[in-house]
Amino acid sequence: MDGTTERLDPDAAGVARAADLLRAGRLVAFPTETVYGLGADARQGEAVAAIFEAKGRPRFNPLIVHVPDVREAERYGVFPAAARSLVAGGWPAGLTLVVPLREGTGLSPLVSAGNPTVALRLPKADLAQRLLRNFGGPLAGPSANPSGRVSPTTADHVLSGLSGRIAAVLDGGPTEAGLESTILGFPDGVPTVYREGVWQAPASMPRLTKAGEGRADAPGQFSSHYAPKGSVRLDAVTARPGEWHIGFGPVRGDVSLSPAGDLREAAAALFSLLHEADAAGRDRIAVAPIPDRGLGRAINDRLRRAAAPRQAFRL
Ligand code: TXA
Ligand code: MG
Repeated sequence: MDGTTERLDPDAAGVARAADLLRAGRLVAFPTETVYGLGADARQGEAVAAIFEAKGRPRFNPLIVHVPDVREAERYGVFPAAARSLVAGGWPAGLTLVVPLREGTGLSPLVSAGNPTVALRLPKADLAQRLLRNFGGPLAGPSANPSGRVSPTTADHVLSGLSGRIAAVLDGGPTEAGLESTILGFPDGVPTVYREGVWQAPASMPRLTKAGEGRADAPGQFSSHYAPKGSVRLDAVTARPGEWHIGFGPVRGDVSLSPAGDLREAAAALFSLLHEADAAGRDRIAVAPIPDRGLGRAINDRLRRAAAPRQAFRL
């Protein structure tokens, strides 16, 4: 978007306005106890796509889903016993858990970037809690900074990077911790530190090594993200015999990422269409050309990975 960004007060009216904007599919930055997050309704694919657009992120990496309570968290993720015991006495501040994604809960597949896992976090900060309760749903939210810049810890930081690109920022003053959350995953059920952060992980807890050791679910292991089982051919204006053709704009295809040629709509549909092609057993997929600008860059990045020789995915 190109417009003015509202700065909202941390009172009831400000929270209500922020929640209304989120329900309308707009982007609202909000403070947590770690850093400011760039919130969007995690169930609205185009709102989630707009996050990547606003941040100028050239890749779709999975986003943390913020929820108001443990029950809501368990609606979206399947908690291994170790995860459950970590949150049993109340969800600790500054802790994000990556757990298997529950199917059919209505989260946009773009949130998980097509992965079978979901990162969940229950922010402790009072203002974040009030926003989540008023909004009444899951909020996808990366740190509210342009791609490649440092995470924002004040509303001014958010505005200096994203002013005019997001609908509003809920101004709760400086965040308490000023550092991102700790991310834990549960490979084979064992709590493992994926990213160091605010929550102090016991020294005995295993850390993910840099190389990732083949973990497809580690942050930063983008090249190992979900790839369809079928082969993928890019820049296909017409389909060859036997190919399942995914169209865009004037290239109609068997299905289309966006008949109108809208990149936000295409980003929102990308992972679902790839999954559907898989589920339908399409072993040869052809994809129409996507313009390499704005969100198109992230879409093309993802498609190139899907089309790359499969050995490249086995890190
Ligand atoms: O403190 C924080 O964690 C802030 C606040 C706003 O919650 N958020 C944040 O988000 O730092 P972001 O997007 O800047 O970093 C989240 C990290 C990324 O490295 C991403 O790859 C990883 O979490 N992540 C998200 N979902 C994941 C998943 N399903 N599996 C593995 N890694 C995941
Ligand atoms: Mg970040």
